[in-house]
Amino acid sequence: MGMDASTDQIKAGRIDTSSTYYELYQKSVELGTWDAEKLVHKVGFEDDREVWEGLNDNEKEQWARLISYFIDGEQAVAADARRIMKTVSSPYFDRSMEKEMMASALALEEAKHTQFFDLYITNVMSDKFPQYELDSRRGGIQIPRTEACGAGEMFERQGTLQAQAAHGGDPADIARAATNYHIGVEGILARGGYFAKNRMMQEAPLKLLNKGFQFISTDEGRHITFGLELLQELIEKEREGLPDYQGVENAIWEQAIEDIGYITDTAYFITADIDDPLDVDFSELVNRGARLAGDMMFDTLDLDAGSATEFMQASADAMESAQGSDYDDVIDKYDHIYSQKMAGD
Ligand SMILES: [Fe+2]
Ligand SMILES: [Fe+2]
Repeated sequence: MGMDASTDQIKAGRIDTSSTYYELYQKSVELGTWDAEKLVHKVGFEDDREVWEGLNDNEKEQWARLISYFIDGEQAVAADARRIMKTVSSPYFDRSMEKEMMASALALEEAKHTQFFDLYITNVMSDKFPQYELDSRRGGIQIPRTEACGAGEMFERQGTLQAQAAHGGDPADIARAATNYHIGVEGILARGGYFAKNRMMQEAPLKLLNKGFQFISTDEGRHITFGLELLQELIEKEREGLPDYQGVENAIWEQAIEDIGYITDTAYFITADIDDPLDVDFSELVNRGARLAGDMMFDTLDLDAGSATEFMQASADAMESAQGSDYDDVIDKYDHIYSQKMAGD
């Protein structure tokens, strides 16, 4: 990863400025400074509202399914960022300071992503989101659409895994949590979402939404690199034969296989289940996700556990089982629960 000449020349004392984590942190300080409120003021909601009003209900539903899992997902990763800050201070890592610096940048950025989607839904898509205001970490629940698909389960799993990793987790616990968060949620679910939104933008060009997504995806690129670096450190120690680290690669593989089920279900939910009005294409979306996963696990991490072929097979199996899903009853059920919760607050 390249560094600016300006940061190259400055010598620091206790911070290791040659660390990749430090470089990622510096990049966040430099590039992650976009302002959701300013962006919204600058671009305005008007053009997006006009496009939105021109869509039919099924097209709106497709956007609503995608954006539901983004706002709930961003809030979930923002909430779990505190656990990542704790996990990276674990004695199982040789150095923590630069990792903690990067984790603090990640926390700010995830908060900003949540803010952007909240502003956007409230001001453009509110007709498809009569209920979404509850804070899911304060006795609320996720949006009914999120709850109905694999993404909702995946975010709940994420909370459990991150808590286990943060509270005295061993290297395999840390690896499982990092795989779910950085490979699964950020690396596949979010990046698959960008693939979907790019397709959907062809017919429904929501300018402000697209601008927000561009900033968000740049931030996410750094978060994914951060997560892969963490995993790389744990894998190296396992390969050195250190007893505490045995099982790391297996944990990564097992978690990836579990998550591909949730992710593929989500892909089906936002496309084929509603006849894909804005032409994303379910199988192309799943292929995109599987390729991204393969690149991270077998090119970047060079994982010995599992193989790209086995992963493609797991993904194909997940596609098969997603096809039979029916989400409408689940959405209705959660709509009802959500209404009760809102009335109770
Ligand atoms: Fe994010
Ligand atoms: Fe992220």
